[in-house]
Amino acid sequence: MSTPLQQEIPGTSSLPHRYGRVTPSIMAELQSLLGQDQVFTDPDKLQAYSHDETSIEDYGHQPEVVVFPRSTQQVADLVLLANRYRIPLTPRGAGSGLSGGAIPLFGGIVVSLEKMQRVRDIDYENMTITVEAGMVTNDINNVVRDHGLFYAGYPMSLETCTIGGNIAENAGGGKAVKYGVTSRYVLGLELVTPSGEVVRLGGKLAKDVTGYDLVHLIVGSEGTLGIVTAATLRLIGLPKATCDLLVLYATPQAAISSVPTILTNGLVPTAIEFMDRSSVEASCRYLNESLPYETCGAMLLIEMDGSDQAQVEHDAEAVGELCLQQGALEVYVADNRTTRERVWSVRRNIAEAFKVYSPVQSLEDIVVPPARIPDILPTLAELEREFGITIPCYGHAGDGNLHATLVNPPDMDMERWHAVEHEALEILYAAVTQLGGKISGEHGIGLKRKRYMAEFMDPVELKLIKAIKQAWDPLCIMNPGKLFDPE
Ligand code: LAC
Ligand code: ZN
Repeated sequence: MSTPLQQEIPGTSSLPHRYGRVTPSIMAELQSLLGQDQVFTDPDKLQAYSHDETSIEDYGHQPEVVVFPRSTQQVADLVLLANRYRIPLTPRGAGSGLSGGAIPLFGGIVVSLEKMQRVRDIDYENMTITVEAGMVTNDINNVVRDHGLFYAGYPMSLETCTIGGNIAENAGGGKAVKYGVTSRYVLGLELVTPSGEVVRLGGKLAKDVTGYDLVHLIVGSEGTLGIVTAATLRLIGLPKATCDLLVLYATPQAAISSVPTILTNGLVPTAIEFMDRSSVEASCRYLNESLPYETCGAMLLIEMDGSDQAQVEHDAEAVGELCLQQGALEVYVADNRTTRERVWSVRRNIAEAFKVYSPVQSLEDIVVPPARIPDILPTLAELEREFGITIPCYGHAGDGNLHATLVNPPDMDMERWHAVEHEALEILYAAVTQLGGKISGEHGIGLKRKRYMAEFMDPVELKLIKAIKQAWDPLCIMNPGKLFDPE
């Protein structure tokens, strides 16, 4: 970019001038490419696609048009069109993201993959499934369950999120302690590049070192390097036996402090989830559910699984015993499907509940090495004291990944809140970095955290990321303004 232009464009707000607008003639082209009924400009639709699950007031931005391609060829055709007129494209799954990744910051075209949700192939011999990007993640398991197979990389929003969005964010959380996150399960991708070419990366392979690992460059790239249209996923055998423990502790610190011991005792839990009392309380209220939160300060929800029910229950008992030795007040066992589902539903709905009861908030997903997780709670307590805010906290303690949620107190005006939020995040992210952690473990950078990238990422790493973006997307039309501002 030349110097005069840079002077004209001091901030991102002016950057749309670099991009073409969706004119009536481009609209006509879109309609002829996709069909009239797949191209929307009515205000309700534009509004619905202007935000994800991140607070709308702070981050929302309307697209000029929302389109619903039904095939990879249609996606490629519309990317070619966007190249011709330099129109920004924002790929979108279910819009359940929590960092603004699917928000069309510069307007242009939102490309919803919702209509691409076919199963292309189930390969029982190779234990893979190939699905289109718009498939709801939970449906993958509904399709393969009866065959004794399982897709294990799913996040907490599995009932609404889509696999394409999971791949964009490298989502995870449900069973990550034992099974890892999305990236472990993505073997192959069909991708439309920012210049409109279709490429198939990877395949049904257990090993592949043929060239750079572009599959895993795309996983977690937040839709900035192309539009994933389909993915080949690794399936595993469905664990036949499961047992969950709900473990009550007097304080959050007591609960979190026992996590490293549980992780290193030789038995591998599937999940170790942490919920402080206010998180459980909010979710129970939201679901009209009851769990014994009144007698404790925090809970761990620990899941064990395996092939033999007696063995799994035996292991769960050993973990429960360990928790009691670590100071737990009480251990409840959920060994039948109904009770397990009740408890997990409370855990899965915490974010939703806080959105209802504390809509002005900053939902964080800080991550530290699992053994350092007890060291982060004192920082949260300090921030509460210093700024007069509350920070309810829950999350994937076994992964070192916590959803500290900074909540705007009712008596704090928005201007003050924004200042407090920023100052508190600076302190929190510095503490996390000090512990060898990162500012986002599963929700991504998107819009929400990009202002912190330069401060909390190695400058050489950031330079390399920007160089990759420049090489893949020289016109900067693929989800621009995410991770960092366009240059
Ligand atoms: C969860 C989402 C917020 O873990 O990541 O509930
Ligand atoms: Zn999570």
